Order: sequence, then C-alpha cells, then structure tokens
Amino acid sequence: MNKRENELLDHFGRPLRDLRISVMDRCNFRCPYCMPEEAPEPDLNFLESPNRLRFAEIIRLTSIFANLGVHKLRITGGEPLLRKNLYELVAGLSELPGINDVALTTNASLLERYAESLGQAGLGRVTVSLDSLDPKVFQLMTGHRGSVELVLAGIEAALAAGLTPIKINVVVQRGANDHTLLELLEYFRGTEIIVRLIEYMDVGNLNHWKPENTVSSVDLLELISNKWLLEPVEENYHGEVAQRWAYADGQGEIGLISSVSEPFCGSCTRARLSSDGVLYNCLFATQGLDLRSPMREGASDDELADMISEAWRIRRDRYSEVRNQASVARSNKVEMYYIGG
Ligand code: GTP
Ligand code: 5AD
Ligand code: SF4
Ligand code: SF4
Repeated sequence: MNKRENELLDHFGRPLRDLRISVMDRCNFRCPYCMPEEAPEPDLNFLESPNRLRFAEIIRLTSIFANLGVHKLRITGGEPLLRKNLYELVAGLSELPGINDVALTTNASLLERYAESLGQAGLGRVTVSLDSLDPKVFQLMTGHRGSVELVLAGIEAALAAGLTPIKINVVVQRGANDHTLLELLEYFRGTEIIVRLIEYMDVGNLNHWKPENTVSSVDLLELISNKWLLEPVEENYHGEVAQRWAYADGQGEIGLISSVSEPFCGSCTRARLSSDGVLYNCLFATQGLDLRSPMREGASDDELADMISEAWRIRRDRYSEVRNQASVARSNKVEMYYIGG
C-alpha cells in the first residue's frame, strides 16, 4: 500500500480511508440476519429523532474525516431512504473537498421514488441488498416486507439515473436462500450489474449466528463454476473486500465476500459513524467514541479532529481474524442496522 506522508495510521499501520455513515437505524425490512422479525421492538432500541445527527452535523464531521484522509463515503442505515430529504445530505457530502466516491447501500424498496433526485444531488452509485428473486424466499429474507418487483423497479430507476456501477449484495444463509442463488446470478448475467455473494457473519447479537449457517465462498465458487466458467479478475483497489470473478464468456462479473473464511482485517481502512454520532472502528465493536456530545457542547473542528485521530491511532481491531479465539466471544456487539453494513 502506498503510504502518504503524515498519514493517519492505526496501531497496525492501516490508514483511514473510508467512512460509512449510518443515517437511520430503522428499517422497513426485517432481514433475519440483521433485524429478525421475532425480536421485540423494545430490544431493537431505536433512537429518538433528536438524537440522530442533523445533516449539517454529518457534513461537518465528514469534512473533518476528509481532512484526516477519508476520500470514500458510503451512506447506509438501517434503511437510509427512510431519512427525509436524504438528497440534501448527498448534495452536501458530494461537494466536500477530498471526497471522490459517494455510494449508498439500500434495500431499494423506495429507490424508484428517489433515484433521480439522488443522482442529481451528486450520488455516485448504489449498492442494493437483494437476497433472492424467488418471491417466497424473498419474503423470508425480508421478514415478510416489501416485494421483489419494487426492488427490481428501484434498480431500473437507479440505472436510468446513472447510479452505476450498481452492485447487488446477497447475504447467503444456508438453508434459507442458498438454493436460489443460481437463478439470481442468471438474472443479472449479461448486464452491467455486479452481484456479490456475502458470507453470513456474526454481526450483532440478535441474529443468533451459528457457523454452520454460513456457506463459504469456496463452496459457492464450486457451485457457480459447475454452471459457468469463471476467471479471477484483479482487484479494483487495495483492500477491496470482494474477490472479483468474471464469466469466461464475457457476460459480466460477480464478487465473493469472504469475511468469515478469509478475513480482510489486514487492509481494513473503514471507520463507521452511527446515526447518533458515535464513531466505531470495527463492524464488531462493542464500544465507540461519542462525537455528538462534544460537537453539541461546542467543540472546535480541531478538537474533534484530535479526538478522531487519537481513536484511530490506538485502533487494534481485527475481529474477523480472531473470532475463533474464546477470549473474543462478545455478547454486546453493536447491531448492523445501527452501525451500517
Ligand atoms: P465498494 O468496493 O466500494 O463497492 O464497497 P464494498 O465492497 O466495501 O461494499 P459494501 O459496503 O457493499 O460491503 C459489502 C459487504 O461486505 C457488507 O455488507 C459486509 O457484509 C461486508 N463488509 C464490508 N466491510 C466490511 C468490514 O469492514 N468488515 C467485515 N467483516 N465485513 C465487511
Ligand atoms: N452478515 C453479512 N452481511 C450482512 N449484512 C447485514 N447483516 C449481515 C450479516 N449478518 C449486509 C446486507 C446489506 C448490508 C447493509 O449489510 O447484505 O447489504
Ligand atoms: Fe434492513 Fe438492510 Fe438490515 Fe435488511 S440488512 S433489515 S434491509 S438494514
Ligand atoms: Fe475491519 Fe473489523 Fe471488519 Fe476486520 S472485522 S475488516 S477490522 S471492520
């Protein structure tokens, strides 16, 4: 990795490059691996609106992150499109000096309505969570919310608005959606849309993850290669989480995200900001740094920058590399819908 002079590095020498901003902890879906529908609402601990950062506060913090080396942003949730007038935030973020990639992760249920205005506001691209095209399996994977048709309409609208390259995130859960993967790949084969199959992870505590419910990328590769010949493709950038594979017959590419079987903590340059302004240095964190309180109590940009820098400098997170050690078993990890994917 090329290291810049005066670059902010963590304990293991990893620079801070990406910021994932959760703007809304609520969601209109209830995916079993994230916010299972049987979890009682009080257990979900949704935030009160005034506790969520205002757009001006998010933009201010992001500009401080940009000064510290962040150039890539992902707006996420919960479901970010549930946040009113999100395009205003997109407009502010995309204008910030140093930011050259603004992406959005969404379940696309509301994308048909918002794609065009988001594109006009400066959004670069979208990543859509879609676990199956089979209506019954889709219902299971969304906690009986939404519809495949709406998601596909959202993807069409994103294409029309130029929010490309579009990626589709598929979390593979054994016995739930793994039998419908080839159908999903077939549907997007021959298009510019890149499907990525993600190993189901033990994020949070609500999903009661068991290792046997994860299907490894090696097994997925075998399944897919039995149908279509695949060729490896060079990574787009250092630290890309997906391993890229192209269909040998030129019908596009797919990605495999092997966070369980082949962790990528060594090149992890990602920080996460929750919608109430807490900075987390790992998806599996149990604690974060509250930036909202000092900001609302009048801290200067320099003071906030010092707090963020210090938190990054002492960062030793590498959960996925050490998850199997008994000493790291954790029962109070933050939930994915709160911290963002
Ligand atoms: P681009 O390459 O910029 O398109 O983004 P990305 O590959 O980082 O994609 P995205 O944010 O869609 O991440 C895809 C999935 O990879 C997430 O939903 C997670 O399941 C997993 N993932 C992303 N970042 C991390 C990470 O830092 N740690 C772990 N363990 N998993 C991650
Ligand atoms: N394991 C892997 N990926 C997950 N996501 C949510 N929960 C999990 C999990 N337990 C992914 C979804 C979505 C993004 C927000 O995070 O696919 O695209
Ligand atoms: Fe909602 Fe995304 Fe979580 Fe599914 S994975 S419940 S769409 S936030
Ligand atoms: Fe980064 Fe934590 Fe994921 Fe490892 S487990 S790649 S340190 S977010």
